[in-house]
Amino acid sequence: MSTNDELLKRVLVTGGAGYIGSHVIYTLQTTRRYKVISIDNLHNAHPKALSRVAQLARDALPVDASEKDKDSAEIDSHICDLTQKDQIRAVFEKYGKGGIWGVIHVAAYKAVGESTQIPLSYYENNVAATLYLLQVMQEFECTKLVYSSSATVYGIPPVIPIPESTRLKADSPYGKTKVMCETIIEDLCSSEPEKWRALSLRYFNPAGAHPSGLIGEDPKGRPGNLLPLLAHMAIGRVQDSKLRVFGNDYPTPDGTCVRDYLHVLDLAKGHLLALDALSPESKVFDNRPTDARFKAYNLGRGQGSSVLQIVEAMRKATGYGFEWEIAGRRRGDVPDLTADPTLAEKELGFTAPQDLDTMCRDLWNWQTKHPWGYGEPEGELAPRTRQVVE
Ligand code: WQD
Repeated sequence: MSTNDELLKRVLVTGGAGYIGSHVIYTLQTTRRYKVISIDNLHNAHPKALSRVAQLARDALPVDASEKDKDSAEIDSHICDLTQKDQIRAVFEKYGKGGIWGVIHVAAYKAVGESTQIPLSYYENNVAATLYLLQVMQEFECTKLVYSSSATVYGIPPVIPIPESTRLKADSPYGKTKVMCETIIEDLCSSEPEKWRALSLRYFNPAGAHPSGLIGEDPKGRPGNLLPLLAHMAIGRVQDSKLRVFGNDYPTPDGTCVRDYLHVLDLAKGHLLALDALSPESKVFDNRPTDARFKAYNLGRGQGSSVLQIVEAMRKATGYGFEWEIAGRRRGDVPDLTADPTLAEKELGFTAPQDLDTMCRDLWNWQTKHPWGYGEPEGELAPRTRQVVE
């Protein structure tokens, strides 16, 4: 436990203004133990997310908050492009050698389909950027890292639920960037095992939003992912009359794909647990197979939901009578991505208690409070009376 005279630990969050990053920062700030530094190039993020997170932290301060508590509610925000090493260095220089305790590296491009069309951008933005970040961290003696990885590193997994020991065999350029970054980080941890500590978190499907509805997912353009798309259909931002369900001939209970959804705030809590597990007193590296202090954990619930179950859960949350039609399979889709989350539970104390209905409720709360996300209205919302289920 921290005592009141301990200094706040400075933690740098890359991609801090994005969907995951903003919820991670929120969770760090609830502890009042960290001073968050956010860097983001605002490619798929909005600065308003950071001001709202800081507001949530300020509002949660006790009446007798100390100066240190108040400081923990403010975010040092930098607009920075990780593909520009000088820009990263300029941020680290502000805090000096040893001035940043650890890094949570969330920033990346993340669309599987897009990565097959512009692979070089993905390798530059995900792999080169991670390399530069690690080099600058090394220069500034900052050697603790929590890395955002993905369930997509498993490709089509041979065993469901998927344990971390599964061979890594990503199919898309996006997935390969995550495998490459994990490899680079592990090699670095092996090279100087006394110095480096890193934990890689393999996310399954994050969903939902902070229950205040102040922060949430705000995809640019038409959402490609299922839950944001359903939310945009229900609010009238997407005019499609029917959801196209990509395939119903998969070897799953109802023939549609199965995914393991977890609440974004439970996922964010996983980052806090991982960060705390980088402390010298932590036991997570005790049973490691090699010298390297590197480990990967699945962050999921271990409960699969099919596309049709998701549609039903969103119908309950929104009251909107979605119509759907079966379309062909989407290229690159995997039938079932359900985690075995027992390792993270055992070693990090990770749990993801919030269920699918809660995720859909919180997503819908965010969407109704902010139909256009963080941005300005882009047109009229379609009237949604036609298909509303009473
Ligand atoms: C879910 C299911 C679709 C849209 C995501 C991220 C990816 C990675 C893993 C981070 C699939 C089906 C979708 C539609 C549909 N995350 N679907 N009609 O594929 O699990 O990937 O999680 O690393 O980056 O994108 O999520 O929401 O795209 O799809 O039938 O219009 O919904 O086929 O089975 P996915 P998704």
